Amino acid sequence: MAAAASAQAVEEVRIKYLGRKGSITTLAKNTDFSKLSPDEKRDFGKQLNELKTLATEQIGAAAAAAKSSGGGAAAKKGPAVDLTLPGTGHSLGSLHPITLVQMELEDIFQGMGFMVLTGPDVETEHYNFDALNIPGDHPARDMQDTFWLKNGMLLKTHTSANQVRTLERFGAPLRAIFPGRCFRYEAMDPSHETTFYQCEGLVVDRDISVANLIAVMKALLGEIFHRDVTVRLRPGYFPFVEPGFELDLQCLLCGGEKCSTCGDGWIELIPCGLVHPRVLEFGGIDTNEYSGFAFGLGLTRLAMMKYGIHDIRRLNAGDIRFCEQFPAAV
Ligand code: DAH
Repeated sequence: MAAAASAQAVEEVRIKYLGRKGSITTLAKNTDFSKLSPDEKRDFGKQLNELKTLATEQIGAAAAAAKSSGGGAAAKKGPAVDLTLPGTGHSLGSLHPITLVQMELEDIFQGMGFMVLTGPDVETEHYNFDALNIPGDHPARDMQDTFWLKNGMLLKTHTSANQVRTLERFGAPLRAIFPGRCFRYEAMDPSHETTFYQCEGLVVDRDISVANLIAVMKALLGEIFHRDVTVRLRPGYFPFVEPGFELDLQCLLCGGEKCSTCGDGWIELIPCGLVHPRVLEFGGIDTNEYSGFAFGLGLTRLAMMKYGIHDIRRLNAGDIRFCEQFPAAV
């Protein structure tokens, strides 16, 4: 057995002992059991079986070894695997650009003591509109048409829908942001989608003024763009804030000198304002004691600006090749 290096040599050994005319087979065949005493019969039978089992096992093992090493002489040439071939790679995947910007915002606001909260996508008319001072006959509803469900609920049109929910749940004082998905009934084009993301912010405390709002916005923009930025406030109308503003960022490309990206030196970025007392009241807040500010950052818009994405429709297209282009800062 030790000399049988190839599968063929092992087979020869098998035939020699266990084949039809092999010595072990013959031994069993040629023995006249009738001449043996019962004791001898039992001993001989037992030994014969043991011998057969031993031979079968050893020959089987030798055959398997000869086969796995490629068989005899061939085994000496080396393994049958080419170790220089490249391995099978596994791709690691990547984060969506909106997720990247959202994570960055969450980090910045958590550093300023804000909670990060989310609310439902399927919302009641109350939280999405009425509690934000937008009753059924208000013209502001026209700008935010959405998908209505048969049971009267709707897909939320803005993250502002989380404001009153959060006031009811946590009361004042409060600092929170609500990043989330929003839905509108839109004709799609490079800058309009039926599904997009916003990040709402809400601060309610004693003596909150426009100065607090500006300070937080400047800190936020400075951190996102990694430099000191100049902002300006223009009046803007939203039923749930009073006064309401559009916060513009002085163009970072031309420094306010006017260029083809900004036109007039400013980029419209964050609608915001001081929370309307009626909204605070809907949330059960005592308006004699507390006031607040809120803002609604377009997360999708910010991601498009930050990464130079020219068509909003790419963001929901589910093309992995698109997502893979954005290096994670995590
Ligand atoms: N929810 C508004 C929208 O989607 C944006 C907005 C404006 C949010 C002013 C605010 C705010 O919190 O104060 O058009």
